[in-house]
Amino acid sequence: MERGMRLAINTGGGDAPGLNAVIKAAVMGAYSRNWEVYGIRNGYAGLLNTDDIVRLTPEMVKDICSLGGTILGTTNKGNPFKMPITNLAGETEIRDVSDKVMENFKRLRFDCLIAVGGDGSLEIAYNFFKKGMPVIGVPKTIDNDIRSTVITFGFDTAVNIATEAIDRLHSTAKSHDRVMVVEVMGRHAGWIALHSGVSGSANVILIPEIPFDIEKVSDHINELELQGHHYAIVVVAEGAAPIGGRVMDKGNGEVGRQDVVLGGIGEYVAREIAKRTCKDTRSLVLGHLQRGGSPTTFDRLMGLRFGAAAVRVAEQKRFGTMVALNPLSVTAVPLGDIIGNIKKVPPDIDTIVTAREIGISFGD
Ligand code: F6P
Repeated sequence: MERGMRLAINTGGGDAPGLNAVIKAAVMGAYSRNWEVYGIRNGYAGLLNTDDIVRLTPEMVKDICSLGGTILGTTNKGNPFKMPITNLAGETEIRDVSDKVMENFKRLRFDCLIAVGGDGSLEIAYNFFKKGMPVIGVPKTIDNDIRSTVITFGFDTAVNIATEAIDRLHSTAKSHDRVMVVEVMGRHAGWIALHSGVSGSANVILIPEIPFDIEKVSDHINELELQGHHYAIVVVAEGAAPIGGRVMDKGNGEVGRQDVVLGGIGEYVAREIAKRTCKDTRSLVLGHLQRGGSPTTFDRLMGLRFGAAAVRVAEQKRFGTMVALNPLSVTAVPLGDIIGNIKKVPPDIDTIVTAREIGISFGD
């Protein structure tokens, strides 16, 4: 009789609500086939130092679906192909330790790694696949910017949090006749800003895909003022930039991190609007509030469906793929198709057309 599969599962990159639902469904799907699932802690770090690897049982995952974060821990710094190592002299150098990860993976007799992550973590998974590791990706990110899947889990929760925040800003903005600028996440793609801004009746939405002209943004607010609308809500994605300008960040700083930490565009936009409109203006950054807390029903369901599908795809031995929503069923698409290929907001998408038709400006 063929022995049951030994699956490993890790969660990498920024956390997203719904990660625990994926873990639960993967464990339960494997359990129903008499297979074993092992949890790898902190992305790929747990495959370098294997002391912490834990066999996940149904008992351990039964209550985790409604929890935010990830019971396995995560990191956006531990790329084994470019690992920062501090030597005895205290200097940090970048080394490729992927062979060690491969060695441990084989030694532990794992048959497949279910890698739950965003573009960065899935690229690492793909690189391991090319080295011979059987991997299946699960698309995770609140930014919803992964290709070949209609949606990633985590996005719905983030959009709901952002929409609720925008709703709350209306009353305070209106009471003070102010312009409120709210910066939401969205590194390369403006999905969160677009969906929350349209649903929350923002007046201006600024996204990375549509470089903005601050004069046009201010003109729109001045026009509203003339029409008797004395306050305004501006939603800006952290990765948005003015025409000819650059994305604002907080510098490199963190050792081993591939991406810079973004931030500052909301404050910039608020300052520039204040100069051009003579209106009181305030800015706020929603930041990690969008990632924290319990997942919505949609994200729980999506996480469960993706986790269960990953086990089905493992059973079919379709490695080197990523489970994807397409759109009514969950399928598997080649990992290679999505690497280095962010899913941006198409500027002519219906949601943008709708937004324009209901009077929202994109500053273009
Ligand atoms: O990729 C998801 C994301 O939430 C981005 O929108 C954001 O730029 C980044 O993660 C923030 O990461 P960190 O948790 O490292 O600050």
